[in-house]
Amino acid sequence: MYRPGTDPPARSPTESTAAWEQDSAAGQAAQVLEPDARVDLQADEATTRVRAVLDALDAELIGLAGVKLRIREIAAMLMVDRARARFGLSASRPSLHMSFTGSPGTGKTTVALRMAEILHALSYLRVPKVHAVTREDLVGQFIGHTAPKTKEALAKAAGGVLFIDEAYYLYRPDNERDYGQEAIEILLQEMESGRGGTAVIFAGYPDRMETFFASNPGLSSRVAHHLQFEDYTKEELTAIAEKMLTSDSYRFSAGAEQAFAEYLDRRLAMPRFANARSVRNALERARLRQAGRLLAQQGTVGRDDLMLITEYDIRGSRVFSDDASP
Ligand SMILES: Nc1ncnc2c1ncn2[C@@H]1O[C@H](COP(=O)(O)OP(=O)(O)OP(=O)(O)O)[C@@H](O)[C@H]1O
Ligand SMILES: [Mg+2]
Repeated sequence: MYRPGTDPPARSPTESTAAWEQDSAAGQAAQVLEPDARVDLQADEATTRVRAVLDALDAELIGLAGVKLRIREIAAMLMVDRARARFGLSASRPSLHMSFTGSPGTGKTTVALRMAEILHALSYLRVPKVHAVTREDLVGQFIGHTAPKTKEALAKAAGGVLFIDEAYYLYRPDNERDYGQEAIEILLQEMESGRGGTAVIFAGYPDRMETFFASNPGLSSRVAHHLQFEDYTKEELTAIAEKMLTSDSYRFSAGAEQAFAEYLDRRLAMPRFANARSVRNALERARLRQAGRLLAQQGTVGRDDLMLITEYDIRGSRVFSDDASP
């Protein structure tokens, strides 16, 4: 029977595993409870840690209601799986492989890190780590190069999350002799056996991911959780900007706030809009203009001057120049 926290170790000799081995769940699972025993799901120490991660996720990330709900569901399912294991109720190891689909800058990479923390807190992963790769890291150019590359990536991710960004590039139907298929097959073997104790997350933009899974039914059926990251609304983008400013000790003047609302209207209508990433980039450029403005002016600057982003700093963007219209 599979028990969380008792996977066969597939660790590298250099990796510290002390915390993993001392994990209470591993100890708990080793001793099967009496059939009439009671466990308090709320009092589980791992539950407390998972709650902290879930609360941080709620506090840090604006919007993403659907994603947050799915993560809570997955966490609840795993907490119950742990309790069942303590009673010796047999079950197959729950599949931890997932797909994260969404437009650029919708928080996929950020959420993957949180997911690793949750799975680690519940002892389904040995390390709360994400190893992010793309096609280049998995697929070789020549015959015989792909297997070692993919296996190396799996070894680096072992016990944590292997995050495959733009996963659809692995599959090139136009080229029969493409080595991507070989990488997919090795990934499939690992996903099926779960030997490395690794969770694989396939990430990418929605339309292409759909085609990718449709052409690889073997993969799709081994991915237990499909999370969809929606584009942010203008209100959410505004809240994301506020959050980013506050965490870096900056603030908008009233004029800047108004100008940024206009900025978003214009930027949303332009090509290659990348949601929260575009907001972050816009704020970084506003900071550059603020610095230039402060250095150009005469006299002294105070704390508030150093914190304030003004209308000028926002309107300096080329999004406001006439030739920038879509
Ligand atoms: N809901 C959110 N609230 C606050 N900040 C966010 C949110 N979503 C994303 N961000 C921030 O936006 C930036 C981009 O997010 P992230 O890299 O996770 O997106 P992504 O979906 O992985 O993008 P890509 O598909 O382009 O790789 C990060 O700096 C992240 O902190
Ligand atoms: Mg990303």
